Amino acid sequence: MFDSGVGGLTVARAFMDQVPGFDVVYLGDTAHTPYGTKSPGTVTRYALEGIRFLLSRGAAMVIIACNTAAGVALDTLSAHFQLPILDGIGPAADHAVKATRNGRIGVIGTRTAVDSGVYEKRILAARPDIRVYTRSCPLLVPLVEEGWLKKPETRMIVKDYLRPLKVRRVDTLIMGCTHYPLLADIIQVKIGRRVVLVDPAAALAEHAGAFLDRNPTLAASLPKNGRLQVCVTDRTDRLQATAAAILRRKVDLTVVQL
Ligand code: DGL
Repeated sequence: MFDSGVGGLTVARAFMDQVPGFDVVYLGDTAHTPYGTKSPGTVTRYALEGIRFLLSRGAAMVIIACNTAAGVALDTLSAHFQLPILDGIGPAADHAVKATRNGRIGVIGTRTAVDSGVYEKRILAARPDIRVYTRSCPLLVPLVEEGWLKKPETRMIVKDYLRPLKVRRVDTLIMGCTHYPLLADIIQVKIGRRVVLVDPAAALAEHAGAFLDRNPTLAASLPKNGRLQVCVTDRTDRLQATAAAILRRKVDLTVVQL
């Protein structure tokens, strides 16, 4: 599993809950995080290095937890590597298309992910009549990483970001970033109780489970000791605590060089 940092542990948690047993090597590229403020070319270069590392650790299938990396680099990665590479954008878009009743879907994400236009593309490919409204929310990743999950300032900022989507009366909202599910309670209140929230972590975990069911030979060849190894490209004092808070359990981080 690959992510720009430790936020993607939301995906690791969802995957290990929904598809238990498989060993996961998680790489968080903390030396280069955040990806959401970087150019597509730079993010693609980092993602290529990340996947190469996972291959060197014996990965037979890769899950891209990071929405930004998936948004800008998936085509390049799929062309570059032979192994299956799964991402959460298609599955989240499909959930949203199924969930919407009024045909108005909102998408929030990092600036680079939103600017890539990838969610609109996937949604409109499935149903061209749907209206998609997007909003980048660059302050939310640092707020989550600071642990400001319940602060009034965070509520205010979320409200501000969501206002234009609320005005458009979206009835479904894709939380298109690894960190946003941790703000789901606030997001739900601010966008409105009736709006369906789509969590790409859950959608991706379900998609990965279904993929493994459809590929029993691959599934049987994977080690199944339920182990999670979390590798990072840089470690700071706070990182361990942030990772443990996201994963909701103690975790040891291994620092690696790409
Ligand atoms: N992992 C990124 C994403 O899901 C968020 C953090 C970052 O900007 O690197 O888009």
